[in-house]
Amino acid sequence: MGVVSPVLRTLTTRVADALPNIDDLSDENIAAIMLTYGTIVGENFIPWLSSTWTRCRSSVAREACRTNLRDEIIEDHPQMLRTFLSPVEIYRERPYVVSAVNKAVQDARREPGGVIAQIRRFTESADGVSGVWVLGALETTSCAFISWMDAAANRLSLADRVYLEKHGEADIMHADQFAAAVEAEASERHVLLTSDDPSDYPPLAAVHRLLDLIFHAA
Ligand SMILES: [Fe+2]
Ligand SMILES: [Fe+2]
Repeated sequence: MGVVSPVLRTLTTRVADALPNIDDLSDENIAAIMLTYGTIVGENFIPWLSSTWTRCRSSVAREACRTNLRDEIIEDHPQMLRTFLSPVEIYRERPYVVSAVNKAVQDARREPGGVIAQIRRFTESADGVSGVWVLGALETTSCAFISWMDAAANRLSLADRVYLEKHGEADIMHADQFAAAVEAEASERHVLLTSDDPSDYPPLAAVHRLLDLIFHAA
């Protein structure tokens, strides 16, 4: 077995350890984090997946992108996310929440050095491997942050959990698909993956910064 799955698991442990403790947060703090997540992930996930697909050469990586993109579009995950978060929208009436979300989103969108632009460049990179690393990192760390969102949804009494159910189950399979995609794409490009430390892979470090920014928006 290669280094990819263990590296992604180590990243997931680091992300999980850095998530804020729900009990330390107010409802407004939680709302700010969820709305920040909704804006950033809702706007960017499909573009990141699409640009990665255009850059992959290996059949394993291309198939992982194609099937994920098909599910995102046919099942309309952006709408699923909006429906899940629609009861949280009411918190936008609170000045604290508006300013926390705006600050985090503006920081993430900063050009050229903001984390969204950094991740976009990885997914558009001609090397092919950087993009599948980004997707592998998002799909694998999802088991940490979707569980956090589940606890957050309990606190805010959110009723529609389809987004969480869908991503809780499917992402376990997507994580495996994209780990295999990284291995396949690296082998196709004759890239040797040796380090077992996620910090040695810039696309993983960028996803880590993105999740830090989102989950510390409050
Ligand atoms: Fe999705
Ligand atoms: Fe997924």
